[in-house]
Amino acid sequence: MIYVTDGINYYMKNKKIIKGRVVWLTGLSCSGKTTISKELIKYFKKNKLPVQWLDGDVVRKTINKDLGFSKKDRDENIERVTHIAQMLAENGVNVVAAFVSPYRKMRNFARKICPNFIEVYVECDIKECIRRDTKGLYKKALAGKIRDFTGIQDPYELPKKPEIIINTEGKKAGESARELISRLERLARWPKYTDHINDNSTRS
Ligand code: ADX
Repeated sequence: MIYVTDGINYYMKNKKIIKGRVVWLTGLSCSGKTTISKELIKYFKKNKLPVQWLDGDVVRKTINKDLGFSKKDRDENIERVTHIAQMLAENGVNVVAAFVSPYRKMRNFARKICPNFIEVYVECDIKECIRRDTKGLYKKALAGKIRDFTGIQDPYELPKKPEIIINTEGKKAGESARELISRLERLARWPKYTDHINDNSTRS
């Protein structure tokens, strides 16, 4: 039987909150992080699971609108969102975090602080990102109109041991998202969500 109740109850087992997962997508601008995140959010919602999406482009217009793209500001950006992700996950909310997060040190900081941290490297060759250039930012960076652009003037430090690598080149968005979901479901630490939904003890 499936109980329709508020999301948090799905995260209760034996009267204990089951911590959320922090799925951290890192990769170049236009690599496909946002598009994949949208599908992942749909997956959580379909399974009636609490989830919060934290996306670089959105966060930088709201809570982190005071920050730019110097190394110091990028570090601050990631530090703040890490703390938010941690608080949410500790309280049973899954988090999908999509940030360029070019520096290994800060991704490792997030890994250290957040429970159930899963690093997903959204891999895409810079030439393909430049070809996609959905926001026209690579064009501006290449023309020198934007400075410190990741992959052009600024570095992107490749993840050393991400839990998952998804290459998005030559693939449709839905295909990459499905691949990610099936890889997540195969991870030992990924809970069998449908079990929670069918479990009597999830009722409070
Ligand atoms: S991060 O480096 O601090 O992790 P974040 O993910 O929040 O970056 O924001 C990246 C987004 O900001 C990019 O997708 C792009 O739309 C925009 N952006 C604007 N300027 C830059 C820049 N100099 N480098 C990278 N992204 C930039």
